[in-house]
Amino acid sequence: MTQPPLANQRVLITGASSGIGAGMAAGFAAAGAAVVVNHFGQPDAAEAIVRQIADQGGRAVAAAGDVSKPADVAGLFDIAAEAFGGVDILAANAGIQKDAAFTEMSLEEWRAALEVDLTGAFLCAQEAVRRFRRQGIDPGRSKALGKVLFTSSVHQVIPWAGHANYAAAKGGVKMLMESMAQELAPEKIRVNAIAPGAIRTPINRAAWGTPAAKQDLMRLIPYGRIGEPEDIAAAAVWLASDAADYVVGTTLFVDGGMSLYPSFAHGG
Ligand code: BGC
Repeated sequence: MTQPPLANQRVLITGASSGIGAGMAAGFAAAGAAVVVNHFGQPDAAEAIVRQIADQGGRAVAAAGDVSKPADVAGLFDIAAEAFGGVDILAANAGIQKDAAFTEMSLEEWRAALEVDLTGAFLCAQEAVRRFRRQGIDPGRSKALGKVLFTSSVHQVIPWAGHANYAAAKGGVKMLMESMAQELAPEKIRVNAIAPGAIRTPINRAAWGTPAAKQDLMRLIPYGRIGEPEDIAAAAVWLASDAADYVVGTTLFVDGGMSLYPSFAHGG
């Protein structure tokens, strides 16, 4: 019998109680991984995901924690160590938006987005790499010593009026990812990112929640449909698996063509 792609592997997914992270939790579990479902203030949602995974014969635990707090981050990895003996994959996925027109944006809003979306990603990745080194490589689990997968955004390249904090954070994630990948590849740590486009999740309900908004959104998506969390989960499972063992320092855009400058399809 062929093994599922992530058999014997352990993944910590931050921001896994809703949206893309919840989709990843289900996808990684279906691919054979044991899953730490991190949440921040959503214990019921996280527990429901854990139960769902268990019902399908998978392994998962919920873990509360704020990714922008070093002590919380260490705690998440401790929970993984206790429950599953360690972590092979970090999916640094937790993210927020605090949208405001540029001159209206408060320092709090600026800081909140940067703290979670960039500093949180940094803290989790740093802790993951330290733990990978301590664990050592285990060919029974993966060819790599460890994998870090960031959830970036099309807005790591597409400027976004009214969202300067978020776009700045995601642009930062791109260079964090690439600098880490360059530094850590010799240790067989693979660092990559996924750049989702518009995915049907609570973070962007305003963009798809009404027929008018959805019609507007479709002008930005050549492929003609909104993305689903499963679209991102499938890409994440592949990137984290040994099937992608030679993929290092790449951002995989999973966006229905949103980053192809669709407004140039006619004219220019
Ligand atoms: C944002 C969403 C947005 C999408 C496409 C994502 O990174 O979080 O709110 O719909 O990019 O613009």
